[in-house]
Amino acid sequence: MKEKQDLSPIYITTPIYYVNSEPHIGGVYTTLMADILNRFHKLNGRSTRFLTGTDEHGQKIQQSAEARTMAEQEFVDIMAQKFRAMADYMDFKYDDFIRTTEPRHRIFVQHIWRKLVENDWIYKGKYSGWYCVSDEAYYSEDELLKNGDGSYETSLGKKVEWREEESYFFRLGEFQKILLDICSTTDFIQPSHRNNEIIAFLRDNSLRDLSISRNTFSWGIKIPCDANGKELISSTDEWLDGIEPEEKHVIYVWLDALFNYQSALDSVGKLEEFWNSAKVIHLVGKDILRFHSVYWPAFLMAIKFKKGELKKLTVADILKKNIIPHRVFAHGWWTNEGRKISKSLGNAIETYAEIRWLRDDFNIREEIAKDYLKYYLATEMRFGNDGDYSRSALVDRINAELVNNVGNLMQRVLAMFYKNFDGELGVLELDTNIELEEILTNKTLNNFDFLTYRDLILDLATEANGYMEQQAPWNLKKLGKIGELRDCLMVELVYIVKIVILLQPLCPCVAEELLNYLNINPQRRNFITLYTKNTLNLAKIGEPKPFFPRLMK
Ligand code: MSP
Repeated sequence: MKEKQDLSPIYITTPIYYVNSEPHIGGVYTTLMADILNRFHKLNGRSTRFLTGTDEHGQKIQQSAEARTMAEQEFVDIMAQKFRAMADYMDFKYDDFIRTTEPRHRIFVQHIWRKLVENDWIYKGKYSGWYCVSDEAYYSEDELLKNGDGSYETSLGKKVEWREEESYFFRLGEFQKILLDICSTTDFIQPSHRNNEIIAFLRDNSLRDLSISRNTFSWGIKIPCDANGKELISSTDEWLDGIEPEEKHVIYVWLDALFNYQSALDSVGKLEEFWNSAKVIHLVGKDILRFHSVYWPAFLMAIKFKKGELKKLTVADILKKNIIPHRVFAHGWWTNEGRKISKSLGNAIETYAEIRWLRDDFNIREEIAKDYLKYYLATEMRFGNDGDYSRSALVDRINAELVNNVGNLMQRVLAMFYKNFDGELGVLELDTNIELEEILTNKTLNNFDFLTYRDLILDLATEANGYMEQQAPWNLKKLGKIGELRDCLMVELVYIVKIVILLQPLCPCVAEELLNYLNINPQRRNFITLYTKNTLNLAKIGEPKPFFPRLMK
Protein backbone atom coordinates (compact mmCIF):
# COMPACT_ATOMS: atom_id res chain seq x y z
CA MET A 1 0.00 0.00 0.00
CA LYS A 2 1.18 3.49 -0.75
CA GLU A 3 2.37 5.27 2.36
CA LYS A 4 1.23 8.80 2.85
CA GLN A 5 3.78 11.24 1.58
CA ASP A 6 5.33 13.61 4.10
CA LEU A 7 5.74 17.03 2.57
CA SER A 8 7.13 19.00 5.49
CA PRO A 9 10.22 21.12 4.76
CA ILE A 10 13.59 19.52 5.31
CA TYR A 11 16.56 21.13 7.03
CA ILE A 12 19.88 19.38 6.42
CA THR A 13 23.05 20.30 8.26
CA THR A 14 26.69 19.26 8.33
CA PRO A 15 28.90 19.68 11.38
CA ILE A 16 30.66 23.01 11.34
CA TYR A 17 34.33 22.35 10.74
CA TYR A 18 37.19 23.31 13.00
CA VAL A 19 39.39 25.79 11.21
CA ASN A 20 42.62 24.85 12.94
CA SER A 21 43.67 22.80 9.93
CA GLU A 22 42.93 22.57 6.22
CA PRO A 23 39.65 21.06 4.99
CA HIS A 24 39.97 17.26 5.08
CA ILE A 25 38.19 14.41 3.37
CA GLY A 26 36.05 13.75 6.46
CA GLY A 27 34.38 17.11 6.13
CA VAL A 28 34.13 16.91 2.37
CA TYR A 29 32.47 13.52 2.79
CA THR A 30 29.81 14.75 5.23
CA THR A 31 29.10 17.83 3.16
CA LEU A 32 28.88 15.70 0.03
CA MET A 33 26.35 13.34 1.62
CA ALA A 34 24.32 16.33 2.81
CA ASP A 35 24.48 17.84 -0.67
CA ILE A 36 23.25 14.61 -2.23
CA LEU A 37 20.36 14.37 0.23
CA ASN A 38 19.49 17.98 -0.33
CA ARG A 39 19.42 17.61 -4.10
CA PHE A 40 17.39 14.42 -3.76
CA HIS A 41 14.71 15.98 -1.59
CA LYS A 42 14.50 19.03 -3.84
CA LEU A 43 14.00 16.78 -6.86
CA ASN A 44 11.16 15.18 -4.93
CA GLY A 45 9.48 18.55 -4.69
CA ARG A 46 10.29 19.12 -1.03
CA SER A 47 11.23 22.51 0.31
CA THR A 48 14.74 22.23 1.76
CA ARG A 49 17.44 24.22 3.45
CA PHE A 50 21.05 23.11 3.63
CA LEU A 51 23.54 24.57 6.10
CA THR A 52 27.27 24.15 6.52
CA GLY A 53 29.96 26.32 8.06
CA THR A 54 32.93 26.65 10.37
CA ASP A 55 33.58 26.28 14.09
CA GLU A 56 36.03 29.03 14.98
CA HIS A 57 36.26 29.40 18.74
CA GLY A 58 38.01 27.51 21.50
CA GLN A 59 41.44 26.87 22.85
CA LYS A 60 42.52 24.68 19.95
CA ILE A 61 41.92 27.51 17.48
CA GLN A 62 43.55 30.05 19.77
CA GLN A 63 46.65 27.87 20.03
CA SER A 64 46.78 27.36 16.26
CA ALA A 65 46.63 31.11 15.67
CA GLU A 66 49.33 31.69 18.30
CA ALA A 67 51.57 29.09 16.72
CA ARG A 68 51.45 31.14 13.51
CA THR A 69 51.84 34.40 15.44
CA MET A 70 48.59 35.62 14.00
CA ALA A 71 45.66 37.38 15.60
CA GLU A 72 42.84 34.88 16.08
CA GLN A 73 40.36 36.72 13.90
CA GLU A 74 42.85 37.11 11.09
CA PHE A 75 43.67 33.41 11.29
CA VAL A 76 40.05 32.21 11.27
CA ASP A 77 39.15 34.57 8.43
CA ILE A 78 41.80 32.98 6.25
CA MET A 79 40.96 29.45 7.26
CA ALA A 80 37.17 29.78 7.01
CA GLN A 81 37.61 31.03 3.47
CA LYS A 82 39.36 27.76 2.59
CA PHE A 83 36.38 25.75 3.79
CA ARG A 84 33.97 27.87 1.84
CA ALA A 85 36.20 27.67 -1.25
CA MET A 86 36.26 23.89 -0.95
CA ALA A 87 32.46 23.69 -0.70
CA ASP A 88 32.15 25.96 -3.75
CA TYR A 89 34.78 24.08 -5.69
CA MET A 90 32.85 20.86 -5.08
CA ASP A 91 29.68 22.61 -6.23
CA PHE A 92 27.87 21.87 -2.98
CA LYS A 93 24.63 23.81 -3.10
CA TYR A 94 24.42 25.04 0.48
CA ASP A 95 21.90 27.77 1.29
CA ASP A 96 23.92 29.31 4.09
CA PHE A 97 27.45 29.13 5.46
CA ILE A 98 27.62 29.98 9.13
CA ARG A 99 30.77 31.08 10.96
CA THR A 100 30.68 31.07 14.74
CA THR A 101 32.65 34.33 14.87
CA GLU A 102 29.89 36.18 13.04
CA PRO A 103 27.88 38.64 15.15
CA ARG A 104 24.60 36.96 14.14
CA HIS A 105 25.82 33.78 15.82
CA ARG A 106 27.37 35.42 18.88
CA ILE A 107 24.23 37.40 19.64
CA PHE A 108 22.08 34.31 19.33
CA VAL A 109 24.32 32.22 21.59
CA GLN A 110 24.40 34.93 24.24
CA HIS A 111 20.62 35.01 24.09
CA ILE A 112 20.64 31.22 24.61
CA TRP A 113 22.89 31.60 27.64
CA ARG A 114 20.46 34.07 29.18
CA LYS A 115 17.61 31.71 28.48
CA LEU A 116 19.44 28.86 30.23
CA VAL A 117 20.08 31.08 33.24
CA GLU A 118 16.46 32.22 33.26
CA ASN A 119 15.24 28.61 33.17
CA ASP A 120 17.55 27.74 36.05
CA TRP A 121 19.81 25.34 34.21
CA ILE A 122 23.11 27.03 35.05
CA TYR A 123 25.10 27.20 38.29
CA LYS A 124 28.67 28.03 39.16
CA GLY A 125 31.00 25.34 40.45
CA LYS A 126 34.47 23.96 40.36
CA TYR A 127 35.71 21.43 37.91
CA SER A 128 38.62 19.10 38.07
CA GLY A 129 39.25 16.43 35.48
CA TRP A 130 41.13 15.28 32.41
CA TYR A 131 40.77 17.67 29.49
CA CYS A 132 41.59 16.96 25.86
CA VAL A 133 42.20 20.20 23.97
CA SER A 134 42.02 18.49 20.60
CA ASP A 135 38.50 17.20 21.30
CA GLU A 136 37.60 20.19 23.49
CA ALA A 137 36.10 17.78 26.01
CA TYR A 138 36.59 16.44 29.51
CA TYR A 139 36.98 12.71 30.06
CA SER A 140 36.53 10.54 33.11
CA GLU A 141 39.38 8.23 34.06
CA ASP A 142 37.57 5.09 32.96
CA GLU A 143 37.18 6.50 29.45
CA LEU A 144 40.96 6.92 29.10
CA LEU A 145 43.91 4.64 28.48
CA LYS A 146 46.77 4.67 30.98
CA ASN A 147 50.29 4.84 29.54
CA GLY A 148 53.37 3.19 31.05
CA ASP A 149 54.57 6.52 32.46
CA GLY A 150 51.33 7.07 34.35
CA SER A 151 49.97 9.61 31.87
CA TYR A 152 46.61 9.15 30.17
CA GLU A 153 45.33 9.45 26.62
CA THR A 154 41.95 9.16 24.88
CA SER A 155 40.91 6.00 23.04
CA LEU A 156 42.03 7.70 19.82
CA GLY A 157 45.46 8.39 21.34
CA LYS A 158 44.99 12.09 21.98
CA LYS A 159 46.72 13.87 24.84
CA VAL A 160 44.78 14.87 27.96
CA GLU A 161 45.82 17.17 30.79
CA TRP A 162 44.64 17.56 34.36
CA ARG A 163 42.59 20.71 34.85
CA GLU A 164 41.03 22.37 37.81
CA GLU A 165 38.97 25.42 37.13
CA GLU A 166 35.98 27.35 38.24
CA SER A 167 33.30 27.18 35.67
CA TYR A 168 29.62 27.38 35.04
CA PHE A 169 27.77 24.13 34.86
CA PHE A 170 24.76 22.99 32.92
CA ARG A 171 22.48 20.58 34.78
CA LEU A 172 22.90 17.85 32.19
CA GLY A 173 22.41 15.12 34.79
CA GLU A 174 18.73 16.02 35.08
CA PHE A 175 18.17 14.97 31.47
CA GLN A 176 19.36 11.40 31.78
CA LYS A 177 15.92 9.86 32.01
CA ILE A 178 14.23 11.80 29.25
CA LEU A 179 17.21 11.27 26.94
CA LEU A 180 17.11 7.55 27.60
CA ASP A 181 13.37 7.55 26.88
CA ILE A 182 13.90 9.41 23.62
CA CYS A 183 16.65 7.08 22.44
CA SER A 184 14.78 3.94 23.44
CA THR A 185 11.51 4.86 21.77
CA THR A 186 12.36 6.88 18.64
CA ASP A 187 14.64 6.85 15.61
CA PHE A 188 16.24 10.06 16.73
CA ILE A 189 19.70 8.48 16.36
CA GLN A 190 20.66 6.37 13.35
CA PRO A 191 22.08 3.94 12.41
CA SER A 192 20.60 1.72 15.08
CA HIS A 193 23.94 0.32 16.25
CA ARG A 194 24.97 3.86 17.12
CA ASN A 195 21.68 4.38 18.92
CA ASN A 196 22.44 1.27 20.96
CA GLU A 197 25.81 2.73 21.95
CA ILE A 198 24.20 5.90 23.21
CA ILE A 199 21.50 3.96 25.04
CA ALA A 200 24.20 1.87 26.74
CA PHE A 201 26.12 5.02 27.64
CA LEU A 202 23.04 6.65 29.15
CA ARG A 203 22.01 3.51 30.98
CA ASP A 204 25.38 2.56 32.39
CA ASN A 205 26.73 5.92 33.47
CA SER A 206 25.27 8.51 35.65
CA LEU A 207 25.18 11.57 33.45
CA ARG A 208 27.23 14.29 35.07
CA ASP A 209 26.58 17.99 34.83
CA LEU A 210 28.51 19.66 32.06
CA SER A 211 31.08 22.40 32.43
CA ILE A 212 29.95 25.06 29.95
CA SER A 213 32.34 27.96 30.42
CA ARG A 214 36.09 28.54 30.36
CA ASN A 215 38.12 31.14 32.16
CA THR A 216 41.66 30.08 31.21
CA PHE A 217 41.62 31.56 27.70
CA SER A 218 39.62 34.24 25.96
CA TRP A 219 38.92 33.12 22.38
CA GLY A 220 35.22 32.50 22.60
CA ILE A 221 31.83 34.09 23.11
CA LYS A 222 31.65 36.05 26.35
CA ILE A 223 29.04 34.93 28.85
CA PRO A 224 26.57 37.82 28.96
CA CYS A 225 25.52 37.31 32.59
CA ASP A 226 26.35 35.21 35.62
CA ALA A 227 24.20 32.43 37.08
CA ASN A 228 22.14 35.01 38.97
CA GLY A 229 21.48 37.04 35.88
CA LYS A 230 23.94 39.82 36.75
CA GLU A 231 24.91 41.61 33.53
CA LEU A 232 28.57 41.29 32.55
CA ILE A 233 28.88 42.79 29.06
CA SER A 234 28.05 46.03 27.29
CA SER A 235 25.88 46.37 24.19
CA THR A 236 29.09 46.35 22.12
CA ASP A 237 30.18 43.06 23.67
CA GLU A 238 32.87 44.47 25.98
CA TRP A 239 33.23 43.39 29.61
CA LEU A 240 31.54 45.99 31.79
CA ASP A 241 33.79 48.16 33.94
CA GLY A 242 34.58 46.60 37.26
CA ILE A 243 34.11 42.98 36.17
CA GLU A 244 36.86 40.94 37.86
CA PRO A 245 39.11 38.63 35.79
CA GLU A 246 37.67 35.52 37.47
CA GLU A 247 34.21 36.57 36.31
CA LYS A 248 35.27 36.72 32.67
CA HIS A 249 34.30 33.40 31.19
CA VAL A 250 33.79 32.41 27.60
CA ILE A 251 31.13 29.91 26.57
CA TYR A 252 32.24 26.30 26.13
CA VAL A 253 32.92 25.79 22.45
CA TRP A 254 30.44 22.92 22.03
CA LEU A 255 27.57 24.90 23.51
CA ASP A 256 28.56 27.75 21.21
CA ALA A 257 28.97 25.50 18.16
CA LEU A 258 25.85 23.37 18.44
CA PHE A 259 23.60 26.40 18.34
CA ASN A 260 24.87 27.25 14.85
CA TYR A 261 22.05 25.09 13.59
CA GLN A 262 19.56 27.56 15.00
CA SER A 263 21.45 30.86 14.87
CA ALA A 264 21.76 30.54 11.10
CA LEU A 265 18.00 30.08 10.74
CA ASP A 266 17.16 32.77 13.24
CA SER A 267 19.28 35.35 11.44
CA VAL A 268 17.16 34.99 8.31
CA GLY A 269 13.84 34.63 10.10
CA LYS A 270 13.47 30.96 9.21
CA LEU A 271 13.35 29.21 12.58
CA GLU A 272 9.63 28.69 12.30
CA GLU A 273 9.75 27.27 8.80
CA PHE A 274 12.85 25.10 9.04
CA TRP A 275 12.89 24.12 12.68
CA ASN A 276 9.46 24.21 14.25
CA SER A 277 7.64 22.98 11.16
CA ALA A 278 10.36 20.93 9.51
CA LYS A 279 12.21 17.66 9.57
CA VAL A 280 15.62 18.55 10.93
CA ILE A 281 18.41 16.21 9.83
CA HIS A 282 21.92 16.49 11.25
CA LEU A 283 24.69 14.52 9.59
CA VAL A 284 27.70 13.98 11.85
CA GLY A 285 30.73 11.73 12.12
CA LYS A 286 30.60 8.95 14.69
CA ASP A 287 33.18 10.73 16.86
CA ILE A 288 30.87 13.64 17.54
CA LEU A 289 27.65 11.72 17.97
CA ARG A 290 27.57 12.06 21.75
CA PHE A 291 27.67 15.84 21.53
CA HIS A 292 24.74 15.77 19.12
CA SER A 293 22.65 13.11 20.75
CA VAL A 294 23.13 13.89 24.43
CA TYR A 295 24.22 17.51 24.94
CA TRP A 296 22.32 18.95 22.00
CA PRO A 297 18.81 17.65 22.75
CA ALA A 298 19.35 18.51 26.43
CA PHE A 299 20.26 22.10 25.51
CA LEU A 300 17.25 22.30 23.24
CA MET A 301 14.89 21.09 25.93
CA ALA A 302 16.49 23.43 28.46
CA ILE A 303 15.81 26.55 26.45
CA LYS A 304 12.14 25.58 26.17
CA PHE A 305 11.46 24.39 29.71
CA LYS A 306 12.28 25.57 33.18
CA LYS A 307 14.07 23.18 35.48
CA GLY A 308 10.91 22.50 37.43
CA GLU A 309 8.96 21.56 34.31
CA LEU A 310 11.24 18.80 33.13
CA LYS A 311 9.85 16.01 35.33
CA LYS A 312 6.42 16.30 33.68
CA LEU A 313 7.82 16.19 30.18
CA THR A 314 7.16 13.15 27.97
CA VAL A 315 8.75 12.03 24.74
CA ALA A 316 5.44 12.67 23.00
CA ASP A 317 5.51 16.34 24.09
CA ILE A 318 9.02 16.76 22.79
CA LEU A 319 8.21 15.22 19.44
CA LYS A 320 4.93 17.04 19.05
CA LYS A 321 6.59 20.40 19.58
CA ASN A 322 9.52 19.58 17.29
CA ILE A 323 11.96 20.58 20.01
CA ILE A 324 14.70 18.17 19.10
CA PRO A 325 15.88 17.27 15.61
CA HIS A 326 14.10 14.57 13.70
CA ARG A 327 17.33 12.70 13.06
CA VAL A 328 20.99 12.64 13.94
CA PHE A 329 22.73 10.33 11.52
CA ALA A 330 26.27 9.30 12.42
CA HIS A 331 28.50 8.15 9.60
CA GLY A 332 31.73 6.20 9.78
CA TRP A 333 35.31 7.11 9.08
CA TRP A 334 37.56 6.73 6.09
CA THR A 335 40.91 5.08 6.21
CA ASN A 336 43.40 5.70 3.41
CA GLU A 337 44.60 2.62 1.50
CA GLY A 338 44.02 0.53 4.61
CA ARG A 339 45.68 2.89 7.09
CA LYS A 340 44.15 5.14 9.67
CA ILE A 341 44.44 8.78 8.65
CA SER A 342 46.61 10.66 11.08
CA LYS A 343 48.71 13.78 11.28
CA SER A 344 51.83 11.82 12.18
CA LEU A 345 51.53 9.52 9.15
CA GLY A 346 50.79 12.57 7.00
CA ASN A 347 48.39 10.47 4.95
CA ALA A 348 45.36 12.73 4.76
CA ILE A 349 43.28 12.28 1.63
CA GLU A 350 43.41 15.63 -0.11
CA THR A 351 40.36 16.37 -2.19
CA TYR A 352 42.12 18.73 -4.60
CA ALA A 353 44.95 16.26 -5.11
CA GLU A 354 42.54 13.40 -5.82
CA ILE A 355 40.70 15.43 -8.42
CA ARG A 356 43.96 16.51 -10.04
CA TRP A 357 45.06 12.89 -10.12
CA LEU A 358 41.87 11.84 -11.90
CA ARG A 359 42.02 14.75 -14.29
CA ASP A 360 45.67 14.48 -15.23
CA ASP A 361 46.38 10.76 -15.07
CA PHE A 362 43.29 9.81 -17.04
CA ASN A 363 43.02 12.91 -19.13
CA ILE A 364 39.41 13.69 -18.23
CA ARG A 365 37.78 17.04 -17.59
CA GLU A 366 37.90 18.38 -14.03
CA GLU A 367 34.09 18.48 -13.83
CA ILE A 368 33.92 14.79 -14.60
CA ALA A 369 36.71 14.05 -12.14
CA LYS A 370 34.64 15.71 -9.40
CA ASP A 371 31.57 13.68 -10.29
CA TYR A 372 33.58 10.47 -10.29
CA LEU A 373 35.04 11.23 -6.89
CA LYS A 374 31.59 12.09 -5.54
CA TYR A 375 30.07 8.92 -6.90
CA TYR A 376 32.84 6.83 -5.40
CA LEU A 377 32.75 8.46 -1.96
CA ALA A 378 28.98 8.22 -1.77
CA THR A 379 28.73 4.59 -2.81
CA GLU A 380 31.92 2.86 -1.67
CA MET A 381 30.67 2.23 1.85
CA ARG A 382 27.25 1.94 3.37
CA PHE A 383 26.43 5.28 4.97
CA GLY A 384 27.07 4.69 8.65
CA ASN A 385 29.90 2.17 8.22
CA ASP A 386 33.63 2.76 8.07
CA GLY A 387 35.29 2.47 4.70
CA ASP A 388 38.64 2.44 3.02
CA TYR A 389 39.62 4.94 0.35
CA SER A 390 41.58 3.29 -2.38
CA ARG A 391 42.47 4.73 -5.77
CA SER A 392 42.35 1.36 -7.49
CA ALA A 393 38.92 0.62 -5.99
CA LEU A 394 37.75 4.00 -7.25
CA VAL A 395 38.94 3.27 -10.79
CA ASP A 396 37.34 -0.19 -10.76
CA ARG A 397 34.01 1.04 -9.45
CA ILE A 398 33.76 3.93 -11.89
CA ASN A 399 34.67 1.78 -14.86
CA ALA A 400 32.34 -1.07 -13.91
CA GLU A 401 29.32 0.94 -12.88
CA LEU A 402 29.39 4.30 -14.62
CA VAL A 403 31.43 3.61 -17.73
CA ASN A 404 30.58 0.01 -18.70
CA ASN A 405 27.01 -0.02 -17.53
CA VAL A 406 25.49 3.45 -17.65
CA GLY A 407 27.87 5.10 -20.11
CA ASN A 408 27.84 2.21 -22.53
CA LEU A 409 24.05 2.24 -22.65
CA MET A 410 23.93 5.96 -23.38
CA GLN A 411 26.60 5.72 -26.01
CA ARG A 412 25.02 2.85 -27.93
CA VAL A 413 21.48 4.17 -27.92
CA LEU A 414 22.26 7.78 -28.62
CA ALA A 415 24.69 6.89 -31.40
CA MET A 416 21.99 4.81 -33.09
CA PHE A 417 19.54 7.67 -32.88
CA TYR A 418 22.15 9.90 -34.38
CA LYS A 419 23.06 7.58 -37.20
CA ASN A 420 19.68 6.17 -38.16
CA PHE A 421 17.25 8.92 -37.35
CA ASP A 422 19.37 11.96 -37.93
CA GLY A 423 19.40 12.54 -34.16
CA GLU A 424 15.63 13.05 -33.97
CA LEU A 425 14.49 11.75 -30.59
CA GLY A 426 10.90 12.88 -30.96
CA VAL A 427 8.31 12.80 -28.26
CA LEU A 428 8.67 10.52 -25.28
CA GLU A 429 5.69 9.16 -23.38
CA LEU A 430 6.22 8.48 -19.70
CA ASP A 431 3.69 6.46 -17.74
CA THR A 432 2.39 6.68 -14.21
CA ASN A 433 4.69 4.57 -12.08
CA ILE A 434 3.38 4.01 -8.59
CA GLU A 435 6.19 1.67 -7.65
CA LEU A 436 8.84 4.25 -8.50
CA GLU A 437 6.87 6.96 -6.74
CA GLU A 438 6.81 4.81 -3.62
CA ILE A 439 10.55 4.18 -3.83
CA LEU A 440 11.44 7.81 -4.33
CA THR A 441 9.11 9.30 -1.78
CA ASN A 442 9.53 6.78 1.02
CA LYS A 443 12.63 4.71 0.47
CA THR A 444 16.27 5.00 -0.60
CA LEU A 445 17.61 8.42 0.36
CA ASN A 446 14.59 9.09 2.54
CA ASN A 447 16.18 6.44 4.75
CA PHE A 448 19.82 7.41 4.11
CA ASP A 449 20.17 4.30 1.98
CA PHE A 450 22.58 5.56 -0.64
CA LEU A 451 23.47 2.09 -1.89
CA THR A 452 19.91 1.11 -2.75
CA TYR A 453 19.58 4.42 -4.54
CA ARG A 454 22.68 3.66 -6.57
CA ASP A 455 21.35 0.16 -7.28
CA LEU A 456 18.10 1.61 -8.52
CA ILE A 457 20.08 3.46 -11.19
CA LEU A 458 22.39 0.57 -12.00
CA ASP A 459 19.54 -1.93 -12.22
CA LEU A 460 17.77 0.28 -14.73
CA ALA A 461 20.94 0.42 -16.82
CA THR A 462 21.45 -3.34 -16.58
CA GLU A 463 17.85 -3.95 -17.59
CA ALA A 464 18.15 -1.55 -20.51
CA ASN A 465 21.38 -3.16 -21.67
CA GLY A 466 19.72 -6.57 -21.39
CA TYR A 467 16.79 -5.41 -23.50
CA MET A 468 19.22 -4.14 -26.07
CA GLU A 469 20.97 -7.52 -26.32
CA GLN A 470 17.64 -9.25 -26.61
CA GLN A 471 16.22 -6.95 -29.30
CA ALA A 472 19.55 -6.61 -31.13
CA PRO A 473 18.59 -3.35 -32.86
CA TRP A 474 21.67 -3.66 -35.09
CA ASN A 475 20.01 -6.69 -36.71
CA LEU A 476 16.71 -4.85 -37.07
CA LYS A 477 18.56 -2.27 -39.02
CA LYS A 478 20.20 -4.82 -41.27
CA LEU A 479 16.81 -6.35 -41.94
CA GLY A 480 15.42 -2.95 -42.83
CA LYS A 481 12.92 -3.03 -39.95
CA ILE A 482 13.23 0.65 -39.28
CA GLY A 483 9.91 0.97 -37.44
CA GLU A 484 10.87 -1.75 -35.00
CA LEU A 485 14.32 -0.24 -34.63
CA ARG A 486 12.77 3.04 -33.62
CA ASP A 487 10.39 1.34 -31.17
CA CYS A 488 13.29 -0.44 -29.54
CA LEU A 489 15.32 2.76 -29.23
CA MET A 490 12.34 4.61 -27.79
CA VAL A 491 12.08 1.99 -25.03
CA GLU A 492 15.76 2.49 -24.35
CA LEU A 493 15.33 6.23 -24.31
CA VAL A 494 12.80 5.98 -21.50
CA TYR A 495 15.43 4.14 -19.46
CA ILE A 496 18.03 6.74 -20.32
CA VAL A 497 15.86 9.66 -19.26
CA LYS A 498 15.05 7.95 -15.96
CA ILE A 499 18.68 7.16 -15.28
CA VAL A 500 19.86 10.66 -16.06
CA ILE A 501 17.21 12.29 -13.87
CA LEU A 502 18.06 9.91 -11.03
CA LEU A 503 21.79 10.48 -11.41
CA GLN A 504 21.52 14.21 -10.67
CA PRO A 505 22.20 14.04 -6.90
CA LEU A 506 25.21 11.75 -7.30
CA CYS A 507 26.82 13.12 -10.47
CA PRO A 508 25.32 16.57 -10.85
CA CYS A 509 27.63 17.80 -13.53
CA VAL A 510 27.48 14.87 -15.96
CA ALA A 511 23.75 14.57 -15.37
CA GLU A 512 23.25 18.21 -16.25
CA GLU A 513 25.31 17.89 -19.40
CA LEU A 514 23.17 14.97 -20.47
CA LEU A 515 19.91 16.70 -19.62
CA ASN A 516 21.01 19.70 -21.66
CA TYR A 517 22.11 17.47 -24.49
CA LEU A 518 18.69 15.79 -24.51
CA ASN A 519 17.13 19.23 -24.21
CA ILE A 520 14.92 18.27 -21.31
CA ASN A 521 13.10 21.30 -20.01
CA PRO A 522 14.61 22.37 -16.64
CA GLN A 523 11.16 22.26 -15.08
CA ARG A 524 10.79 18.61 -16.01
CA ARG A 525 14.04 17.35 -14.55
CA ASN A 526 12.53 16.44 -11.18
CA PHE A 527 11.41 13.05 -9.94
CA ILE A 528 7.74 13.85 -10.36
CA THR A 529 8.36 13.59 -14.11
CA LEU A 530 9.39 9.99 -13.54
CA TYR A 531 6.23 8.74 -11.95
CA THR A 532 3.42 10.83 -13.37
CA LYS A 533 2.05 10.34 -16.86
CA ASN A 534 3.46 12.93 -19.22
CA THR A 535 5.15 13.59 -22.52
CA LEU A 536 8.60 15.00 -23.07
CA ASN A 537 9.60 16.75 -26.24
CA LEU A 538 13.20 15.92 -26.84
CA ALA A 539 15.72 17.63 -29.00
CA LYS A 540 17.42 16.67 -32.19
CA ILE A 541 20.73 15.53 -30.83
CA GLY A 542 24.21 15.96 -32.21
CA GLU A 543 26.78 13.18 -32.29
CA PRO A 544 27.05 11.83 -28.75
CA LYS A 545 30.40 12.34 -27.06
CA PRO A 546 31.51 9.93 -24.36
CA PHE A 547 29.69 11.31 -21.35
CA PHE A 548 31.40 8.84 -19.03
CA PRO A 549 35.02 8.56 -20.19
CA ARG A 550 36.81 5.40 -19.16
CA LEU A 551 39.53 5.64 -16.55
CA MET A 552 42.35 4.18 -18.53
CA LYS A 553 46.03 5.03 -18.43
N1 MSP B 1 33.78 21.42 15.10
C1 MSP B 1 33.34 20.11 15.44
C2 MSP B 1 31.90 19.90 15.03
C3 MSP B 1 30.93 20.87 15.62
S1 MSP B 1 29.32 20.61 15.04
C4 MSP B 1 28.36 21.58 15.96
C5 MSP B 1 34.23 19.09 14.74
N2 MSP B 1 34.91 19.51 13.69
S2 MSP B 1 35.98 18.63 12.85
O1 MSP B 1 36.43 19.49 11.79
O2 MSP B 1 36.98 18.11 13.72
O3 MSP B 1 35.27 17.37 12.29
C6 MSP B 1 34.21 17.48 11.42
C7 MSP B 1 33.72 16.16 10.91
O4 MSP B 1 34.73 15.49 10.15
C8 MSP B 1 33.30 15.19 12.01
O5 MSP B 1 31.97 14.79 11.73
C9 MSP B 1 34.25 14.02 11.84
O6 MSP B 1 33.60 12.81 12.09
C10 MSP B 1 34.62 14.11 10.39
N3 MSP B 1 35.86 13.39 10.09
C11 MSP B 1 37.14 13.71 10.42
N4 MSP B 1 37.98 12.78 9.92
C12 MSP B 1 37.27 11.82 9.28
C13 MSP B 1 37.58 10.70 8.47
N5 MSP B 1 38.80 10.24 8.34
N6 MSP B 1 36.55 10.07 7.84
C14 MSP B 1 35.26 10.54 7.89
N7 MSP B 1 34.94 11.59 8.62
C15 MSP B 1 35.87 12.11 9.52
O7 MSP B 1 34.28 17.96 15.18
